[in-house]
Amino acid sequence: MTDIDFDAIPRARLPALLRTCPKAELHLHIEGSLEPELIFKLAQRNGVALPYANVEALRAAYAFSDLQSFLDIYYAGASVLRTEQDFFDMAWAYLERAAADQVVHAEIFFDPQTHTERGVPMETVIVGLDHACRRAHAEFGLSAKLILCFLRHLSEEAAFQTLEQALPYRHHFIGVGLDSSERGNPPEKFARVFARCRELGLHVVAHAGEEGPPAYIETALDVLKVERIDHGVRCLEDPALVRRLAASRMPLTVCPLSNVKLCVFPDLSAHNLKALLDAGLCATVNSDDPAYFGGYVNDNYLQTFAALPALTARDAWQLAANSFEASFADDAHKAQWRAQLDAAFAAATPPAS
Ligand code: ADE
Ligand code: ZN
Repeated sequence: MTDIDFDAIPRARLPALLRTCPKAELHLHIEGSLEPELIFKLAQRNGVALPYANVEALRAAYAFSDLQSFLDIYYAGASVLRTEQDFFDMAWAYLERAAADQVVHAEIFFDPQTHTERGVPMETVIVGLDHACRRAHAEFGLSAKLILCFLRHLSEEAAFQTLEQALPYRHHFIGVGLDSSERGNPPEKFARVFARCRELGLHVVAHAGEEGPPAYIETALDVLKVERIDHGVRCLEDPALVRRLAASRMPLTVCPLSNVKLCVFPDLSAHNLKALLDAGLCATVNSDDPAYFGGYVNDNYLQTFAALPALTARDAWQLAANSFEASFADDAHKAQWRAQLDAAFAAATPPAS
């Protein structure tokens, strides 16, 4: 709770406040931050042929009808990544953008199977990403942590092999997630590998309820025992599930621009972010795959607030506060960022006369 007088903050001040307040980003696929310009630069550096003539032609292909139509292009784009320097360059470009958006903490997904299947060693992927995370902390004071995602369209056995390959670098990632094609690949397919990850002390999260039904959110909770749900926007179809998520303060890492680009909602004005907050859910705002979906985290905040006039100053504060609450950072850092957030909002209220 907070004693900030949110009603005294004019709505016209919200864009500037949203842009400048500290926030955490908890749902960002680093391969989804590869801008077309960097894809072409890396393709040239590594002698990789692309089926697009130039940056404009590639960008023009970013018209998606559903999750799978996006994933096909996303995996093709990631094929230019070959060396440790490539992984560093990709992550560094994202971290510079994130720091400019006042992201003070980022928990970053990476998809090692996309790379190891092409013969790129696990070490190349993780060491390159880790180097960028360390530099962001040193240069920007931004704490950046890695979460290894298993691709759910592949088998659980492949996920076990991936975990095995990654364990020598265990100190470089804080948790595991589950992403890729949701429909037809329910959470329970990965029950045993998630149990093993929990035994290893890793944090566990999973995409659920993006395109898949609310039942996938339930099995992510009951079978995988996840600590956060990535997306989760379809939970509103099941009132009992909403009550359960709200009572447990189970975080949802919501990605509004992604949801529109992948046709989960027809447009931003139809997005259910306000309804999620009003239901008492611990919703957060994130960018998912910013290079493909038209915006980084601040674009997600600003465009969503512009499209949903019902969102208030309290909602803006709540979303940023939720991002810290939902993070895997320690309590001391959470308290420090919350104090900075409260100070930013308090400074936007007119002085008492
Ligand atoms: N991989 C990258 N972005 C994704 C998304 N939005 N859903 C599932 N898998 C993904
Ligand atoms: Zn995602």
